[in-house]
Amino acid sequence: MISRGRFITLEGIDGAGKSTQASFIAEKLRVRGIDPLVTREPGGTPLGEQLRDLILHQPMSARAETLLLFAARTQHVDAVIAPALASGRWVLCDRFTDASFAYQGGGRGVRATDIETLANWVHADLRPDITLLFDLAPEVAALRLAKSRSADRFETEQLAFFARVRTAYLARAQAEPARFVVFDGSLAPERLQRQLEKHIESWLSK
Ligand code: TYD
Repeated sequence: MISRGRFITLEGIDGAGKSTQASFIAEKLRVRGIDPLVTREPGGTPLGEQLRDLILHQPMSARAETLLLFAARTQHVDAVIAPALASGRWVLCDRFTDASFAYQGGGRGVRATDIETLANWVHADLRPDITLLFDLAPEVAALRLAKSRSADRFETEQLAFFARVRTAYLARAQAEPARFVVFDGSLAPERLQRQLEKHIESWLSK
């Protein structure tokens, strides 16, 4: 029997640096003989990428936003993530349901019980094995974002929004310490990568 691949997710507020680290982790796994499927949310499928465009740019209510995110997630889980894991492949996903609890729940005030209901419907028997949370003060993240590309609907939110998102992420990490690893997103990328390498070694030795 093929054993299921590992499901690893990366989380953090906008500007916390997780996307850079996703490429780094994928590279480190490849040199150790594991070719992970690297994907992202919202997105990861043709439908999901179209929904992503709407979610990031089209004004909408918090509930509509939550449902569209879960529509994209459903397609992603059914068509990509679950089949890959079942075939033994590791999946490295840039954001997953913790982002909905943090952004739609913490940020926009959608009830956590409603998000939990959607999560149970969409992926009852699928939860990340490991979640890497890149934690960063919103003020620092905002300075980083100001230097980069043009902002989407989330990136134009105020500092108070990101403070709530950050608090919600940290609460989830505290509630599930066996799944989460919290990194200090203010560290230089190379220092973070040295810490990440130690974790990657430990995943492989298990
Ligand atoms: P992000 O990973 O930040 O993409 P990029 O690095 O290209 O900007 O994701 C896009 C946005 O989507 C981000 O601001 C957070 C938001 N988001 C939610 O609000 N809820 C979710 O469930 C997910 C997956 C993302």
